[in-house]
Amino acid sequence: MNITESIFYIGVNDHNIDLFEGQYDVPNGMAYNSYVIKDEKTAVMDTVDANFGDEWLTNLENALNGAAPDYLIVQHMEPDHSANIIKFAEKYPQAEIVGNAKTFVMMKKFYGSDFSDRRITVTDGQTLSLGSHTLTFVFAPMVHWPEVMVTYDSTDKVLFSADGFGKFGALDTDEDWACEARRYYFGIVGKYGAQVQTLLKKAAALDIKTICPLHGPILKEDLGYYIGLYNTWSNYDVESEGVFIAYTSVYGNTKKAAELLKEKLEAQGCPKVAIADLAREDMAESVEDAFRYGKLVLATTTYNADIFPFMREFINDLLERGYKKRTIGIIENGSWAPTAAKTIKAKFEKSKEITFTETTVTINSALDDQSTAQLDSLAKELL
Ligand code: FEO
Repeated sequence: MNITESIFYIGVNDHNIDLFEGQYDVPNGMAYNSYVIKDEKTAVMDTVDANFGDEWLTNLENALNGAAPDYLIVQHMEPDHSANIIKFAEKYPQAEIVGNAKTFVMMKKFYGSDFSDRRITVTDGQTLSLGSHTLTFVFAPMVHWPEVMVTYDSTDKVLFSADGFGKFGALDTDEDWACEARRYYFGIVGKYGAQVQTLLKKAAALDIKTICPLHGPILKEDLGYYIGLYNTWSNYDVESEGVFIAYTSVYGNTKKAAELLKEKLEAQGCPKVAIADLAREDMAESVEDAFRYGKLVLATTTYNADIFPFMREFINDLLERGYKKRTIGIIENGSWAPTAAKTIKAKFEKSKEITFTETTVTINSALDDQSTAQLDSLAKELL
């Protein structure tokens, strides 16, 4: 696949993976992207996952069409991109490995070699000329590892964006970009909003016509849409008006309250109400929805003097990603000593710009007139 006249796609699709990065469900698989820039000198941009080394080398060979690569540029050392560095280096002994100081420290740890006799160690902003193409390396630490750098080709105006602008899903499946890019972003990069903002500011100074990420489709049109979403996400801003109700329920009573709140909100014209059973639905999907909407309702039971385990995990997921700028309402349920609301509020104690609704719904085992009236108040407040 040609991206420009001299840039070729040589990545692979993975439909065998069970969990990406050991935890994320990827129902439509995963793509590990890699590219070749052909010029007087030929550069290869990253490798692919360990299971696809042979397929990738075949793609590379086809794209090279008899030429030999001069450089392997390593933008990110996470093994989904770096696993075939050794294979590549053995097959093409004349090629030099390009990375930064941190890249080579990690390379030695992962693969036992840092290629001290055939490497180019670049600094932030350094350029590499391939002939008519000039590549500029822009360091992007913590997007999503410390050694990450992105690469700008000023000739074809292509930004090779490493994990940035990536998404779950193989390239041979047709699905909405934002849905799986948002789940990917908040799952994997979400903690590093400040660092993504720094990268976006650097990128704003560049004339970009194409974004080539390491996962997901190559972006060629309407780049403002994708960059705008990345700006919203990394700034922790609200993307969509609406309420997300996340609940756990043991015998169905908390679920009933969560669903009744949804009905009340919808009846009163709330633009969007999303709801999820945290024990049964994909946790990363719930994390993404919590960041997408401006209002979050947490409905759970008191459990072992804490809260129900799936809710505890969900809140931890939000906290470790710096959840902020949101309104939270609580529905607590307890049969003899309901303390979930107090426990939840304590968990968010150090969070910035979190507002709790005045109304907390307290259910004593099952909904009654009093707790149903509290649901009405909560719905009004959320609207
Ligand atoms: Fe796709 Fe951070 O690796």
